[in-house]
Amino acid sequence: MEKQSELQILSYINQVPKAELHIHIEGSFEPELMFEIANRNGIAIPYSSVGELRSAYKFGDLQDFLDIYYQGASVLLKTKDFYDLTYQYLRKAANDNIVHTEIFFDPQTHTQRDISLETVVSGITSAMEDAQKDFGISSYLILSFLRHLSEREAFEVLDLALPWKDKFIGVGLDSSERGNPPEKFARVFEKCRQLNLKVMAHAGEEGPWEYVADALDVLHVNRIDHGNRSMDNLELLERLSREKIPLTLCPLSNLKLKVISKLSNHPVKMMMEKGLIVTLNSDDPAYFGGYLNKNYFETAKALNLNMEDIKVLAINSFKASFLPLDIKKYWIEQVEVFHKNFKP
Ligand code: ADE
Ligand code: ZN
Repeated sequence: MEKQSELQILSYINQVPKAELHIHIEGSFEPELMFEIANRNGIAIPYSSVGELRSAYKFGDLQDFLDIYYQGASVLLKTKDFYDLTYQYLRKAANDNIVHTEIFFDPQTHTQRDISLETVVSGITSAMEDAQKDFGISSYLILSFLRHLSEREAFEVLDLALPWKDKFIGVGLDSSERGNPPEKFARVFEKCRQLNLKVMAHAGEEGPWEYVADALDVLHVNRIDHGNRSMDNLELLERLSREKIPLTLCPLSNLKLKVISKLSNHPVKMMMEKGLIVTLNSDDPAYFGGYLNKNYFETAKALNLNMEDIKVLAINSFKASFLPLDIKKYWIEQVEVFHKNFKP
């Protein structure tokens, strides 16, 4: 990309209205806030400074990352901690011109430490309400099951969460993928579908393409989180395109967790060419070195994406969202208007 157009693309990315659909709130925990909350809760962090903690963010694979991510989340104790964490992310998101976001939280990471679900959900959702008022950003919450835990534990946390059912729009499946296939949660997901919750699952991030197919066949997901390994099976790619199943891709996460060796190997462009509804997302931005606009920009540079491609990705982010149809249409029109009027 030559200099002029690189700046143009950056300015386009910064300004275009967009949605983020794959962000773990615990993964937006910046070291500065982590130290602040740890101090006020009287908890020691096994790192002497923000700099030392940040320099530990070198991961060989997903599990390396998860170990440090759960350790970070362990300083969150009180409603205000969850509030501050969420409000900080939403302020950053609004700054990136994200107008709508769908946020995962991992209840079991907290209930296992005897933090009540009420503490977690009330802290997160009051920040979501305040951010809507303060920055005009809308957001939905998604309860994610930890797949390294048992089916029974997933049922238990679902039961615990039912009093707050009107606070979350759907359920997801995250944590260590290999060895924890979608089948393990078939019955929990069936119950969630009966409860009219949206369903999605991380699949094909580190696990094989078969896990993506199983998430479709066994869990009947509305959306796949990551789904990179779908590239290994042409029939599956064609099916994702035909059935219009969106993928929430996370390029900087993939790079940091060695799902890809360099950004120019990221499958987003090939998936777009195959007609898939793909979106870009930050996953765990505090750990992977960039929020949403950086994901767009670094990917655009690596893969030579142009403004037309960015427009499609922004439109896809609304198409793939769980927003009501009329609001989706409104934002898609806003992206079109922005595109037409954009003066670099
Ligand atoms: N939890 C938070 N980020 C995750 C990821 N990228 N994969 C699986 N589980 C996660
Ligand atoms: Zn994720």
